[in-house]
Amino acid sequence: MAPVAISEESGNGTISSVAELKKVQANQRIEETRVINPFYSPSAGNENDDDYSYAKYKPRFPVVNWEPLTEIEVTDRGHFADSSKTALFSAAQKVKHLTPAIGTELVGIDLRQLTDQQKDELALLVAERGVVFFRDQELSIHEQLDIARHFGPLHKHATTPVPREPGLEEVHVVYNDASRRPDASAFSKIELWHSDVTYEIQPPSTTSLKVITCPEYGGDTLWSSGYALYSSLSPGMQVYLEGLTALHSAVAQADGSRAAGLHVRREPIESIHPVVRVHPVTGWKSVYVNPGFTRRILGVPKAESDTILNFLFHQIAENVDFHVRFHWEPNSVAFWDNRIVTHTATFDFWPQTRHALRATPHGEKPESVEDYESRTGKAAKDRQIEIWKEQGVEIPQSKKGLSRARGCND
Ligand code: SIN
Repeated sequence: MAPVAISEESGNGTISSVAELKKVQANQRIEETRVINPFYSPSAGNENDDDYSYAKYKPRFPVVNWEPLTEIEVTDRGHFADSSKTALFSAAQKVKHLTPAIGTELVGIDLRQLTDQQKDELALLVAERGVVFFRDQELSIHEQLDIARHFGPLHKHATTPVPREPGLEEVHVVYNDASRRPDASAFSKIELWHSDVTYEIQPPSTTSLKVITCPEYGGDTLWSSGYALYSSLSPGMQVYLEGLTALHSAVAQADGSRAAGLHVRREPIESIHPVVRVHPVTGWKSVYVNPGFTRRILGVPKAESDTILNFLFHQIAENVDFHVRFHWEPNSVAFWDNRIVTHTATFDFWPQTRHALRATPHGEKPESVEDYESRTGKAAKDRQIEIWKEQGVEIPQSKKGLSRARGCND
């Protein structure tokens, strides 16, 4: 064996043995081959702090341990909204619907000035449109959290970073800069589509993200409507999916954090949720699976589960009729209803910095069509059919739930 120069420096000091040198070299090789999957590899972002005005919101990973979450009472604020949303809309200079299926931009509103009535109407608008955008918002993270608290008790994430500023453990920090070059060998674009923390017992409802630093172009976010996906399916497929449940898992996210040497603050959980859930305020049905966290459909052969999930995941990611894409500017804010949309960031902006802060209220326990109908005594609805009815247009025969004659006639 070749003689080893044992004067090299490890990260912690002088290397004193051959064994130690081999370990350091092996670690260097691992480091060189480490790939960054932005979904599972949280960022610490410790560079270039001195001249950065939002350094206090850069990522921190506190070593604390939290108890498992338990069921909590949540009443959706959309129930208290006036369905015409006059208070909210009359405060806006413009209400711009971005696509028929999803996405509205409200122009000329200062989120700091919203009354409780307007916040309730915002919750309803987000429940109907999936995601609502605002630009040029000066609200602080504390004001963002106050609005989020109006919508429900706030979620604390078990693995993703919180801001350095103390007392902001309910904030989820999104941060990427030149030190994190996403590696396409670590993830597929489809896998990045998700609804936030769907593995929780009561996953989030009206969630907000404020972008504080972003590139001039690149780093857009896309959302995909679960209502539109449901509406696009044949009546037989809709009924089939309504009877199913699926497993959502936090395990891969926790493993990703541990593999990156980070502390997991709450043990990972797995929850079973209906594949089609009903929004408690709109009463509309939405497909509730996502590539990020849904692992399998229960009670069916694995091949069937894989095929159905694969089909739904591809529809979420690829059917552009369900999508809206938003280009962020500093101080843009999006509110989306995590119960009825999935989303993905794009990671096309390396080596530039993108930094955002999320506030995430818990929603109710996801409710199946059967449970919603027996609790409320009302029929859950297909959003597209309700909209066509409102517009007075004819509903296509194939959407009326009338099945064609079955069987063989020859
Ligand atoms: C998120 O997944 O909540 C953040 C989305 C984004 O960074 O655009």
